[in-house]
Amino acid sequence: MELQKQIDSSKLPQHIAIIMDGNGRWAKNRGKFRVFGHEQGAESVREIVEACAELNIPNLTLYAFSTENWRRPKIEVQALMKLLVKALNKELPTLQKNGIRLSAIGNIEALPEKARKDLLSVMEQTETNTHMTLTLALSYGSREEITKTIQEISLKVKNNLISPSDINESIINNHLYTRDLPDVDLLIRTSGEQRISNFLLWQIAYAELHFTETLWPDYTKGHLYNAILDYQNRERRFGKTSEQLNA
Ligand code: FPP
Repeated sequence: MELQKQIDSSKLPQHIAIIMDGNGRWAKNRGKFRVFGHEQGAESVREIVEACAELNIPNLTLYAFSTENWRRPKIEVQALMKLLVKALNKELPTLQKNGIRLSAIGNIEALPEKARKDLLSVMEQTETNTHMTLTLALSYGSREEITKTIQEISLKVKNNLISPSDINESIINNHLYTRDLPDVDLLIRTSGEQRISNFLLWQIAYAELHFTETLWPDYTKGHLYNAILDYQNRERRFGKTSEQLNA
């Protein structure tokens, strides 16, 4: 049976997060500059966003640029920012047509002016869309996010707005960049690396992890369907026993 048809629509992950890796290697394998890999990677972004919208996945979060990525050669960072601006402007009509709300997590203030401006503009223009939320992690690092959260909560304690014993998981959740998103159900990483790389450390506490050798520019709808089928075959116990779940 066709892969897509094997997916059980009553057991869809409500939040998929993807570490898009392997653009550089994909380009190198073809004797091209790394930027060429990122350009092809942007095409995969388009295909996977479309696939998630078609499947009715309500939340998709993509690791597009980490806090650590600022250490890359300046020319590559500039190319990635340019690619982001190009993609934002090119894809706005598609986002609108498909009811996709664009959101962002990370230290957006650190982005170059043009990228920040266009990002905020697309976010504003799509903010009433309800079919799916596409979140781009940009200048994002999970440790930075958690540190910022602790600082904000500490300030509230200092100002007697809350007491230390009030601090619970829900308060912490409400201070994270992801405060409007549910926990991640399925985390995918491409290119054969099996690391989390400072991505959504708090939010993936119970996520199913799916690693694939496929390099991101080669990643297609078929690969995504396989990842979702793999997810649907896992038993998510959340600390309970198999017997309790099946009772
Ligand atoms: C990792 O590949 C990829 C990135 C650091 C950036 C992801 C960016 C895109 C997919 C391009 C466009 C994105 C948007 C949102 C329009 P890598 O460079 O680390 O690959 P390597 O490990 O093979 O060197």
